[in-house]
Amino acid sequence: MGTDRDIETRVFPNHKERQLIFVRECNFEDLEIVKEINEKELPEDYPFFFYKSILDNFKEAFLVACLKDNPKKIIGYIMWRVEKTPSKHNLRLINKGHLVSIAVSEMYRREGVASALLSKSMHALTHHKLKDYVLEVRVTNYGAIELYKKFGYKTQGIKKKYYKDGENAYFMVYTLEDDD
Ligand SMILES: CC(C)(COP(=O)(O)OP(=O)(O)OC[C@H]1O[C@@H](n2cnc3c(N)ncnc32)[C@H](O)[C@@H]1OP(=O)(O)O)[C@@H](O)C(=O)NCCC(=O)NCCS
Repeated sequence: MGTDRDIETRVFPNHKERQLIFVRECNFEDLEIVKEINEKELPEDYPFFFYKSILDNFKEAFLVACLKDNPKKIIGYIMWRVEKTPSKHNLRLINKGHLVSIAVSEMYRREGVASALLSKSMHALTHHKLKDYVLEVRVTNYGAIELYKKFGYKTQGIKKKYYKDGENAYFMVYTLEDDD
């Protein structure tokens, strides 16, 4: 599921220049930049305290992708939360990972950055003994849907009018193992 290796990506496509990207845990000082990327790349905006609370509770899976030569230059992020949910088989509560948000700045896309963020963050959550990793994605967000399918996520249903603007979401799930 995960790799700790840096990835090399072409960050300035017109100049054919290549740079190393690395993925690390997000810090408090990064939150404003993460919020800026979110506001630029996604219609869903969150208040600062929301990012802070995810960072406080699930730091291990709140990751940022940076330029190796300029670690303050953040080009993408991912954040998750862990939720308790009833088991399908008994009354026990089990943990599931819920993807809160992922985005990569436009000029750095299609070079594996989101894949690196996704694989490393999913791996970082394994100590919670998760059964499922779940997410919602706009039904028209074909690129993101392809990304999740590539990772083995399956569509389990549609959440009608999930987004503020009325768009439906696919509910996608990656199951690690059966409930016990
Ligand atoms: C979705 C997003 C995070 C993907 O980031 P990325 O770094 O470009 O993704 P990757 O390079 O790791 O892509 C991995 C694979 O996902 C699929 N994929 C990603 N973007 C795609 C696109 N626009 N169209 C089709 N397939 C796409 C491809 O299979 C790709 O592999 P390939 O490039 O070898 O064909 C990025 O487009 C983004 O930030 N979008 C705006 C924010 C967003 O929609 N977030 C998801 C909310 S649910």
